[in-house]
Amino acid sequence: MQIPECVIEAMASHLRTSNANVHRGIYGLSAMAEEVYESTRREIARWIHAREPREIVFNSGTTEGLNFLASQFTSLTPKDEIILFIQEHHANILPWQRLGATIRIIPMTEEGDFDSDSLSRKLSERTKIVSVAHIGNVLGTINPIKKIAQMAHTVGALCIVDGAQSLGHGPVDVQEMECDFFVTSAHKAFGPTGIGFLYGNSKYLECFKPYHLGGGIVERVAFDQAATFREIPTRFEAGTSNIVGIAGLREAIHFLQKIDWTAAQIHSERLRLRVFEILEQNPSIEILKPNNRRTGTISFIHRSVHPHDVASIFDSEGMAVRAGHHCAQPLMKALGVNGTVRLSLALYNTEEEIETLIPALQKVGRILQKNNAKTIEF
Ligand SMILES: Cc1ncc(COP(=O)(O)O)c(C=O)c1O
Repeated sequence: MQIPECVIEAMASHLRTSNANVHRGIYGLSAMAEEVYESTRREIARWIHAREPREIVFNSGTTEGLNFLASQFTSLTPKDEIILFIQEHHANILPWQRLGATIRIIPMTEEGDFDSDSLSRKLSERTKIVSVAHIGNVLGTINPIKKIAQMAHTVGALCIVDGAQSLGHGPVDVQEMECDFFVTSAHKAFGPTGIGFLYGNSKYLECFKPYHLGGGIVERVAFDQAATFREIPTRFEAGTSNIVGIAGLREAIHFLQKIDWTAAQIHSERLRLRVFEILEQNPSIEILKPNNRRTGTISFIHRSVHPHDVASIFDSEGMAVRAGHHCAQPLMKALGVNGTVRLSLALYNTEEEIETLIPALQKVGRILQKNNAKTIEF
């Protein structure tokens, strides 16, 4: 997402007036930085309905959050099972694959949704973790997290939610979802890159060991005794954090709080339906799994033009779309394609911008004709 002026200004202002490290409260500037740091934690906790601010751990984003979680389960053996959805981003696959547990995969239904029946068949006392994206990054699928969490809990498994795509798409309520962990990144929610956070139920965080080791997390270090660590969440935030990123994230949360989400949803839905209308008029295009339980993340393929070529032509028309496997290769395999073109609609996109799809697609057709291109298998 692009960043609103207020977030840019909050980061610039932080650098001008409060640039110092935290946890060094002896000087005033550090106390100011600390206030930014801890007030952001409090505001995030309120925004996503965590029970308390200490359930929020700052990190560099979703990828780090998932790696942090996986690092807590190194004692799992092949008898233990971790359940993932076929649509997961590599960030929610690779950290789990490195553990000793058996990975079980939930397929999509015909319509491209999470197959809850398959989950109920796969759950057993061997299941330790069910880790699923809230919103898929390729098809925009909105997964039924509350149902998944409730099902996971019936066998005593933990429910982890990859919230990379959801923070910027509407209010999040981790208690309502009944998940145990939720990880996300600021840069998909009007904030800067390189900063994100993890929500974790404090009853589990209390049992977790430090992830990165270093300054800021210890009570005592000696060469002849084991170190003792500080309370959660500080125990998980070793080293100097991205404090200016946190100042930006705080303002991004303010920005999210001011959005009229009902109006936003109506706007997004209007844009999404118009994109469908335009794409459906083109017989060379196949939209992948279009249905009404989606966000404005729309994937399609052009039957005769490689996704990268479509994306380059769109770029020449001033439209930034991503093309390729979107870090979701298992999903590409399940869809039977090597890649897709993905349009990601944001709240600031306008109806006029959507209309530029028409000349962009016409240009794809013209260039194809000119090159007398053959149908490319991909
Ligand atoms: C669903 C999903 N999970 C995880 C990630 C990784 O996020 P980050 O690169 O911010 O760590 C992404 C990023 O695109 C994503 O869309």
